[in-house]
Amino acid sequence: MIQKQFIPNTYKNTIEKGSYTWSSPSNIALVKYWGKKEHQIPENPSISFTLDNCKTITTLSFVKKNTDNFSFDIFLDGEKKDDFKPKIETFFKRIENYLPFLKAYHFTIETSNTFPHSSGIASSASGMSALALCLMSIEKALNPDMSEAHFIKKASFLARLGSGSACRSLEGDLVVWGKHKQIDGSSDLFGIKYPFHVHENFKNYNDAILLVDKGEKQVSSTLGHNLMHNHPFAQERFKQAHDNLSNLIKILKTGDLKNFIDLVESEALTLHAMMMTSMPYFILMKPNTLEIINKIWSYRQDTGIPVCFTLDAGANVHVLYPEKHTEKVNQFIKNELVVYCQNGHYICDKIGFGAKQL
Ligand code: PMV
Repeated sequence: MIQKQFIPNTYKNTIEKGSYTWSSPSNIALVKYWGKKEHQIPENPSISFTLDNCKTITTLSFVKKNTDNFSFDIFLDGEKKDDFKPKIETFFKRIENYLPFLKAYHFTIETSNTFPHSSGIASSASGMSALALCLMSIEKALNPDMSEAHFIKKASFLARLGSGSACRSLEGDLVVWGKHKQIDGSSDLFGIKYPFHVHENFKNYNDAILLVDKGEKQVSSTLGHNLMHNHPFAQERFKQAHDNLSNLIKILKTGDLKNFIDLVESEALTLHAMMMTSMPYFILMKPNTLEIINKIWSYRQDTGIPVCFTLDAGANVHVLYPEKHTEKVNQFIKNELVVYCQNGHYICDKIGFGAKQL
C-alpha cells in the first residue's frame, strides 16, 4: 500500500550533514489498539492520553555518503546497540518510499529514555516517534516550504510504520488513531489530536505507573496483534472498541468520572481477555497485577475517590486519577500498592502535550 500524499516531490535543497534532536513521550491508551492488518493498519480505532515524564530523547546526526544502502549506528545512553539494528533496518525499509533520502546519508542515532531501561515500560512509542520526528526535520530542511500540519501528520504516519501506537505520541493531550465515524479527520494512517471538548475533570489527569514486572515480555506485542487473526471474539471486540470510543466522546464532554472508570477498566481487562483467549493463549498479568487491581477497587469503594487502573501489554499497572486527588492517592500508593511493585519502583506521570524539538 503506497500513500501518495506522503511521497515528496523533488527536494529544493541539498544538505551535506547535520543533526536534529527531539524528545517524544510515551502514551497510555484508554480505548486499546489490539489487532492489525497489513502495513500497520489497526483493526479498530484507539485513543490515548499522552504522557509527560516518560519520554525518549533522540539525536539523529547525518552525513552524506555515496553507497546505495542503509547505513547507521545506534547508541542507547552512549552505548552502541547493534541488537537494535534489525528493528531500525525494518523501519527504514518500510518508510524508504516516503523518505527517498534515507540511503543518501550515514546516520548516527543517539537515544536515551527518561524512564529506567528494562522498567517494563515499552519505549517503542516514544522511541519510534522521536526518530520519525528527527527524520522529518531532515525532510523539512530539504524542503522548507513544508507546512506544520503536513510535518506532524507525516511524522505520525512514519512513526506508525515503526510501531503502531507510536503515532499517538507526537501531540497531546488526547490523540485518536484509527478511522471512527464520529471523528472527522480520523485516519488509520496517523494519529490526530482529539478534536472535541474535554471537561475540566479530565484536564491534567495523573498516571502513576506501578512497575510490577520489569522483565522482558514473554509475548511481544507484534505476536499478540497477529493472534487476533482468526480469534473467535475478534469481530465483536473491534465493534466494541468503536462503541467505546463513541461513548467516551460523551464521557469526556460531560466529565462523567463514573462511566470513564467503567469504560477504561473494561478496556484494560478486555485487552487481556483477548490475550487469554488467543490460540496459543497467554497471560501477561502477574499475581501482583491482580493484587493492585483489587486494592484499587476497595480503596475506591471505601473513599469514593475516582481512581482507576489501566494496563498495556504487560504486567505493570497504570493508576489514573484526577489531579485534585494527588496527595491522597499518592499516600494510598505508598501505603498499600508499593509492596506489589518490583523493588518498590513506580513512576509518577501525568498527561502531557507531545513531542518537542530540542
Ligand atoms: O504499538 P504496539 O504494536 O506496541 O501495540 C500497543 C498495544 C497496546 O499498548 C496494548 C494498546 C495501545 O493501544 O497502546
